[in-house]
Amino acid sequence: MQYKYAQEQLDYSDFSSGRVFYSSPGYPAFPVRLASEIFQRCAASRETIHGVSTPGTLYDPCCGGAYHLSVLAYLHGEHIREVIASDVDEEAVALARQNLGLLDREGLDERIVEISKMFEQYGKDSHGDALRSSSILKKKLSALTEKHPLKTRVFQADATDGNEILKNIKPKSVDLVFTDVPYGQHSYWHDSGLPNPLGSMLNALLGVLSPSSIVAVVSDKQQKALHESYQRIEKFQIGKRRVVILKPA
Ligand SMILES: C[S@@+](CC[C@H](N)C(=O)[O-])C[C@H]1O[C@@H](n2cnc3c(N)ncnc32)[C@H](O)[C@@H]1O
Repeated sequence: MQYKYAQEQLDYSDFSSGRVFYSSPGYPAFPVRLASEIFQRCAASRETIHGVSTPGTLYDPCCGGAYHLSVLAYLHGEHIREVIASDVDEEAVALARQNLGLLDREGLDERIVEISKMFEQYGKDSHGDALRSSSILKKKLSALTEKHPLKTRVFQADATDGNEILKNIKPKSVDLVFTDVPYGQHSYWHDSGLPNPLGSMLNALLGVLSPSSIVAVVSDKQQKALHESYQRIEKFQIGKRRVVILKPA
């Protein structure tokens, strides 16, 4: 796979999981450069295919700790008006709430106080790095929210249950879905007995997708992001990950 947008390998250390953004054992952090590339491909498709470039609603129905969503909002917030995250797992939802809280000035200030206290108490280099990164994030957030407010929302739901999703998200209101579904190494599909949870998730999303939406699904090779109500825009493989970008048919 050739990077079309995130062409340079930049230093993303200010966004490292566990530095300013919260991390927890068992919650894999999605690679930042790849997340940025996929997001920019989706934004470009939204513009070329649907002619829409206004900031939209970004949703991940298998959000985990919402690490990649939070990083994307910092990197590409000019394309995002609202970030919505959901997961079936209660602990993931709590972690996602903490990370998406860092897209709010008060939440970020609270995190800065928390890191400052740790630095005073333990004086570790890592806490000093986190303090420096948090002031860089603070400047980025101010610049972003000067242009338009950034709303966030987190809820607990099964991604394969369209009714549950529709209880929390308005019909036809989601512009971009970017989801990194479970693929066995660190995370597993919640056992609901469904033979094809990825297909069921695509089905469940149909009610909330806007007609000009774009959907990016990251999975392993074994799972097929195929559904009769979607048309594939592009597909590529990078390492163990398969990325498929779709639009509602
Ligand atoms: C690979 S992780 C996502 C990590 C995320 N991209 C990040 O950067 O933090 C996949 C998530 O899917 C969740 N999951 C598994 N089955 C689900 C289901 N049926 N509905 C919603 N979420 C589910 C797991 O709890 C896990 O948090």
